[in-house]
Amino acid sequence: MSDKLQEGLKKAAMATAERHLFLCLGPDCCNPSDGEKTWEYIKLRVRESGIRAMRTKAACFRICTNGPWLVVYPEGVWYPQVTPERFEQILQRHLLGGEPIAEWIVVRSAFGTCEAAD
Ligand code: FES
Repeated sequence: MSDKLQEGLKKAAMATAERHLFLCLGPDCCNPSDGEKTWEYIKLRVRESGIRAMRTKAACFRICTNGPWLVVYPEGVWYPQVTPERFEQILQRHLLGGEPIAEWIVVRSAFGTCEAAD
């Protein structure tokens, strides 16, 4: 393995991550500037809180409405309309507290299953 690859894997914190957060920033599911605000907030709060989570921008999940969309793995929980304020609640209740916010979940799609919320 090259030094550059090892460095990239370390920077991604792949070996220590407990979760992976994907955020779609638009352009079709939301205004990209709103998506960017949420993304910047997620970066800040993941760093400040010390949670062991990788975070990745997603260009499009092909849902294209009700964004920004946040997907949390390994739970496979899909949250719509994630503003900075909503992310703070997701951080406190789900990512730190261990309880996904049932009333906001649209889909649970753990690998091998897919279940739309009522
Ligand atoms: S642009 Fe976000 S789901 Fe398509």
